[in-house]
Amino acid sequence: MASLPKTVRKAVFPVGGLGTRFLPATKAQPKEMLPVVDKPLIHYAVEEARAAGIEQFIFITGRGKTAIADHFDVSYELKHQMQGRGKESGAIEDWLPGPGQVCFTRQQEPLGLGHAVWCARHLVGDEPFAVLLADDLMLGEPACLKQMVDAYEHVGGNLVCVENVPPAFTSRYGILDIAEENGKLVRAKGIVEKPKPAQAPSTLGVVGRYILHPDIFGVLERVERGAGGEIQLTDGLSKMIGKVPFHGLRCDARRFDCGDKAGFVVANVAFALERDDMRDEVYEQLEALIDVHRPSRKAAS
Ligand code: UTP
Repeated sequence: MASLPKTVRKAVFPVGGLGTRFLPATKAQPKEMLPVVDKPLIHYAVEEARAAGIEQFIFITGRGKTAIADHFDVSYELKHQMQGRGKESGAIEDWLPGPGQVCFTRQQEPLGLGHAVWCARHLVGDEPFAVLLADDLMLGEPACLKQMVDAYEHVGGNLVCVENVPPAFTSRYGILDIAEENGKLVRAKGIVEKPKPAQAPSTLGVVGRYILHPDIFGVLERVERGAGGEIQLTDGLSKMIGKVPFHGLRCDARRFDCGDKAGFVVANVAFALERDDMRDEVYEQLEALIDVHRPSRKAAS
């Protein structure tokens, strides 16, 4: 396998999962369309990819995900109605990717993240590409994926975004076996999917940003179902260690796990507090709310 670093032009957005942790909210709408303040999660992920120089946006969808395609399309009716009422329509179209920049393919069955990525093989071809999981929402400047693209130019191979996770939570993440640390960059000699704390080689967990070597497609083709009966991207990455470089990057960004209810609620608060038009009002209301709940929390502890 060769490991020649090239420009990262394409990003894959796996959005084919069932989103069961958010039922009933996700019964008739995709998890990736849940809004944080006023933008869907997938919208933030596309913005981040754009800020990293990505030119092609590839969505791996499934049943019940058509709202995502509609979100990244023009909406003539809404535009017409808004114009008729004298309203500015920038919020529905100024950010749209250009014609031909977006494409969709279906993962007919949600067989796991590795399988979803493999579904992109014909659209990506033989070049390095990014993968962004929209439910890991990143708050950081420069954009998290931009930091990864910059690091990737030096290391090539497979690069994953990592952060230290609480030791009790290793079983929620792919965990790196560290060979060498060099500032924010970590060279890994192994990766284990969702290990119990006692079996975890470290507490460095992989979060939802990857830059992958295209040889991953051939590897994923042969990967058998792993943890949870799913085809795991982690297992594919593990098989490539020793053939192409494998690194983790600690990005300067705050991550919100929006696949988890508490993480999603906190993300809404954090993103509102970042905004000049909302900060003061939200802060005041939060303070009042915390005052109401503080006595009951003290009583419970
Ligand atoms: P999750 O592991 O959060 O799974 O997927 P999920 O099905 O979306 O949610 P829960 O656990 O049932 O609540 C992380 C990302 O990978 C995508 C999801 O859409 C999500 O963006 N994914 C997962 C796929 O595209 N296909 C799959 O088979 C599994």
